[in-house]
Amino acid sequence: MRLLHLSLTNFRNFTRLALELPPRGVLLIGANAQGKTNFLEAVYLLATFSSFQTHVERQLIHFLEARKSPAVGRLIGEYQRRDGTHRLELRLILEATAGDGMRLRKEALLDGVKRPLSQIVGHFNAVLFAPHMTQIIEGGPEERRRFLNLTLAQAIPGYATVLSEYVHILEQRNALLKQLAAQAGHVAQLDVWDQELTARGAQLMYWRIQALQEMERLAARVHLELTRGAEVLRLMYRPAYEPLPLPVAQISLPLSTPLDRSHLKVEEIREGFLERLRAMRREELTRGVTLIGPHRDEVRFLANGIDLGDYGSRGQVRTALLSLKLAEMEWMRLRNGEWPVLLLDEVLSELDSQRREDLLARVSTCEQVILTATDASAFPAPFLLQSTLWEVKMGQIYPKNHLAEEKEPG
Ligand SMILES: Nc1ncnc2c1ncn2[C@@H]1O[C@H](COP(=O)(O)OP(=O)(O)OP(=O)(O)O)[C@@H](O)[C@H]1O
Ligand SMILES: [Mg+2]
Repeated sequence: MRLLHLSLTNFRNFTRLALELPPRGVLLIGANAQGKTNFLEAVYLLATFSSFQTHVERQLIHFLEARKSPAVGRLIGEYQRRDGTHRLELRLILEATAGDGMRLRKEALLDGVKRPLSQIVGHFNAVLFAPHMTQIIEGGPEERRRFLNLTLAQAIPGYATVLSEYVHILEQRNALLKQLAAQAGHVAQLDVWDQELTARGAQLMYWRIQALQEMERLAARVHLELTRGAEVLRLMYRPAYEPLPLPVAQISLPLSTPLDRSHLKVEEIREGFLERLRAMRREELTRGVTLIGPHRDEVRFLANGIDLGDYGSRGQVRTALLSLKLAEMEWMRLRNGEWPVLLLDEVLSELDSQRREDLLARVSTCEQVILTATDASAFPAPFLLQSTLWEVKMGQIYPKNHLAEEKEPG
């Protein structure tokens, strides 16, 4: 997959940008606060409709534009896939709500036709790698669920739709549980929500089981190579509802024990999930909240049986993240039949020279990779020769052709 053209209007510090993108490597060089990360954020938004920088989405619109009501930011990407060239337009519309607040609404048009976001998420694919993403390994479980959702939604048709239905049902069910906890409403009303929740929840779990197994296989192989055979990496799925039949799930096994859930069918997971919800009903009624399901799933990363989230050294975590990101990229290629566009934000500066070479060697097999750095000195000359260099300056992008500018002779 390859991004051919990107145009941004009132997106972050880009008031107006229109750019043709070359194949292979594009290196964005610039001082701090010029727009390098914002540029990658824009490309990633086209793949996921989700920002990797902020949960406050109104920040995505240029702040001068955002004073207007309504305010509009616009991203248009033209890209080449195996099935042809497409145009994806994302509109960010900041408007007043019925109350006093403002809300950001997103609209997407694929090849000129307005479509629900969850249906076209992942039509364009990107994998993003930024240093703060070590949070996937070291941060809270919500970071890992987010990673899973953003990755799986790009490669599993239906994932985003089922996930958004699940989230909606969960909110309704939680509202009802709260009511019931306050002695209002009828407990029997829960039955309907239990059916709905478990149908979507089981489907999500099934996809997560399959995807994590596939990704683990890829990540373990990369990691073994990156650590020169020293570490075996495992991705342990720890679902909040354990679908494996008793007594396996009852025995408290050490964390590192692999459990194979890949033979489970969606219907089996669903039946067990429903049964478990019923068994937990009293506790849920007391607590007023849904206690099990994919919204509470966890994934742990283990190197040689040691949990990296708890005990990993900085270097170990960084290398594991690198393995995970390379695996994510390969997994997407396997699932979608083509490479995603790879986005690397300031990644090289964090790696030692050996890992740098490992990374660049691997990403050069991709169709297109966009990298950012404050200067080009961390990049080996052969890589620079194959890449296009651009300078990012105050929300504008200029060609920066000559290698000699970066590397002083002598
Ligand atoms: N909504 C917005 N409107 C206008 N400018 C914005 C908006 N959001 C962020 N910016 C500006 O964008 C700049 C940051 O851009 P970005 O994070 O892409 O920088 P960078 O080039 O990646 O820098 P660094 O090397 O420090 O990572 C800041 O100066 C910030 O004020
Ligand atoms: Mg940056």
